[in-house]
Amino acid sequence: MKPIFYTKHTIGRDDIRAVEKILAAEWLTQGKRVFEFESKIARYCGARYAVAVNSGTSALHLATFAAGIQSGDEVITTPLSFAATANCILYEGGFPIFADVDYETGLLDPEEVEKKITDKTKAVITVDYAGHPSFFRELKRICKDRKLVFIDDAVHSLGALYHQKLVGTQADMTVFSFHPAKLITTGEGGMLLTDNKSFYERALLLRNHGITKEPKNFVYKSEQRKPWYFEMQELGYNYRITDFQCMLGLTQFQKISGFLKKRRELAHAYTKLFEGDKRFRTPKELAGCESAWHLYPIRIRDKSIDKEKIFQKCKEYNIFPQVHYIPIHTHPYYQKNFGYRWGDFPKAEAFYEEEISIPLYPTLRISDVEKIAKIVRSV
Ligand SMILES: Cc1ncc(COP(=O)(O)O)c(C=O)c1O
Repeated sequence: MKPIFYTKHTIGRDDIRAVEKILAAEWLTQGKRVFEFESKIARYCGARYAVAVNSGTSALHLATFAAGIQSGDEVITTPLSFAATANCILYEGGFPIFADVDYETGLLDPEEVEKKITDKTKAVITVDYAGHPSFFRELKRICKDRKLVFIDDAVHSLGALYHQKLVGTQADMTVFSFHPAKLITTGEGGMLLTDNKSFYERALLLRNHGITKEPKNFVYKSEQRKPWYFEMQELGYNYRITDFQCMLGLTQFQKISGFLKKRRELAHAYTKLFEGDKRFRTPKELAGCESAWHLYPIRIRDKSIDKEKIFQKCKEYNIFPQVHYIPIHTHPYYQKNFGYRWGDFPKAEAFYEEEISIPLYPTLRISDVEKIAKIVRSV
């Protein structure tokens, strides 16, 4: 039997043929596919501007740079995420201030955020954990009242709905990833969406070494007419994505509603299979929200169940679940450099102790889901 991992990309012949065409074409990078892919995602989500880059992590960095985070600034975020969510604060010299999550959903808790605001706070980064939209209304109100930049790490939630609106415009900047584990893939890749022109222009600068080729933006106006001239105005990076990756993104995008539908079906099947089993807690969608079901995070309620035993049992059947997430503040780097300790964020830590992401991806069959649920419940 082939191994079943917690996630898997879905690549078809159509994707491969389309990418092959680009490989034989004139432009491998910085051609029109990048712009087309940006336009498609921006239009889908209803955002004005999009900047495609080579990873979700780079897109998060564009966001902290565009937000103007500087040395000593504090940015509030969730400990229940992948390290990239907090690392992007460090890239700009900021200080990551964690706030605990809501125990039921694993989402950043707005009340905890409010407690952490100081004169140094400049931004808030929320995470749409497992594909479920964050507490946008509450976080948006806090950010507006306290004049903070609001960033959504929506790496899990492309295609999720928040009060009938797709995730992508609820915050000042929204970040997606196209890593193979995500809803659609470009191999590696990411994108920043915003309605704010100045954030957009800052993000463009950072993507390409801090260079502008736009004559009207030149510092040295006398050079505007020279066709070879460009200016490096900030310290940027090479965060560019290639045309063949964006072509893959375009063909993947055509299948997005099918992918979402399949994930939802399988997630609902899991929920039914665990129904009535009080030893486990299954994920719920909050009123007005539809998850993109990036993950299916079950939680062990019964303290006598050993999580490691579940992993061992799954392994015997070639099934490989995962855990999301080891809280960021518990990693040695964060403990050594920022003084965080186990016990600082009890709800995120309890969530971590209880959580298992059981496999969920579009090509998984209902029979697989039934088998996985049976194995997990048998321990
Ligand atoms: C919540 C979250 N944010 C950011 C990232 C980073 O995205 P990427 O792997 O595309 O750099 C990940 C990666 O899985 C993630 O899960």
